Amino acid sequence: MRIKAYRASPVARLADDRPVVAILTVDDEIQSFRGNRANFADLIQTGRELGVTTYVVTINDLKLKSPEVVGYTYRPEEEAWVQEKFPRPNIVYNRIPLREDERQPNVKRKLALISRQPGIKMFNRRFFNKWLLFRWLYNNPSTRRFIPDTKKLTDVFVLAGLLKRHRLLYLKPVRGKAGVGIMTVKVQPEKHLPYRLQIQEERGSRTYRCSTMRSLWHRVSEYSETIGEPYIAQQGIALVSVDDRPFDLRALAQKNQAGKWELTGIGARVAGNTSITTHVPRGGNIDDPEKLLTGIFGAEKAQQVLANVKRAILLIARQIERASRSRLGEMSMDLGVDTNGNVWFLEANSKPMKFDETDIRQKSLQRIFHYSFFLHRGTKQTGRR
Ligand SMILES: Nc1ncnc2c1ncn2[C@@H]1O[C@H](COP(=O)(O)OP(=O)(O)O)[C@@H](O)[C@H]1O
Ligand SMILES: [Mg+2]
Repeated sequence: MRIKAYRASPVARLADDRPVVAILTVDDEIQSFRGNRANFADLIQTGRELGVTTYVVTINDLKLKSPEVVGYTYRPEEEAWVQEKFPRPNIVYNRIPLREDERQPNVKRKLALISRQPGIKMFNRRFFNKWLLFRWLYNNPSTRRFIPDTKKLTDVFVLAGLLKRHRLLYLKPVRGKAGVGIMTVKVQPEKHLPYRLQIQEERGSRTYRCSTMRSLWHRVSEYSETIGEPYIAQQGIALVSVDDRPFDLRALAQKNQAGKWELTGIGARVAGNTSITTHVPRGGNIDDPEKLLTGIFGAEKAQQVLANVKRAILLIARQIERASRSRLGEMSMDLGVDTNGNVWFLEANSKPMKFDETDIRQKSLQRIFHYSFFLHRGTKQTGRR
């Protein structure tokens, strides 16, 4: 790939009140850099429209002492990624795509250096962990009521204790995503084999029936060992459904030009026929939350439920950021609504996937830059933070 030197255009020189935004990712031997290229190209294009220099930079290429760094930009007219020299960023949007990458020692070291670097503000430094999310939200009275009963799945007694209180449990790896490793347990006391264990598979799910807690635990621990992650066990929420298919809500919360959390949009995700989760790659589909909720609760109650959902999202986003003690610019959230209209928090993600709803998508791209402008104004006033 050729390297072209960045030459500050007259506009760019005049515009030193504009941030320089780097999308941070990790190096890749074959592809130069990892991550969702279509997403990165959309971000660069949005930056261009807003007059903000935006590029992709890798952990190794982001030299903190040099005034210029080597980065990548996308040229739509050539349909090509090209390497260029850019001014050092003052805003770093972390989009390292995988937890495995984030765990590498050189990556951890660099992230720590960037976060301490005067003149650079980074946001979304880390992936979340489902157990910590639960603790953070449980520890605050304003968010506790949205949290299903949740325990760390350390032994059979935890499982037995929860099953006394709830007939359905979700077992989830603390660092999972896209439904990988999720199990459900349902108790049907009247049956000869009262414990029904379902394990999420590539498509659909596998079912086991167990006669005793001991045999159930055996299956659960056997499977969780293949995933190799600690698990949480969580009260299953009786999600509202359409045509017998449960659905949940996926929301995007982002900071705006004033540095305040705002709701960018909410979509509904309806579960595939044979899936225990609502992920689109597992046969789920997207739909309009207002339409679905109105079909279930009627217009008036649906509006109330949606208003509660929106309030919950902002409370939760603020509390997660406060408790994580780390700067966040955005997060996506999975929320459930039960058949009584109560709102439940299922999980949040600090590396949101692209939303397929075009209005949410457009707004989400712009807000990244609105927030960058906000951060940049702060940098210039105080030199740091
Ligand atoms: N406690 C729960 N009650 C009901 N459904 C749940 C619960 N937890 C998860 N789910 C379902 O499983 C899906 C995946 O769970 P989630 O916690 O988002 O894990 P992942 O990180 O794999 O996306 C959710 O979107 C929801 O449909
Ligand atoms: Mg999820």
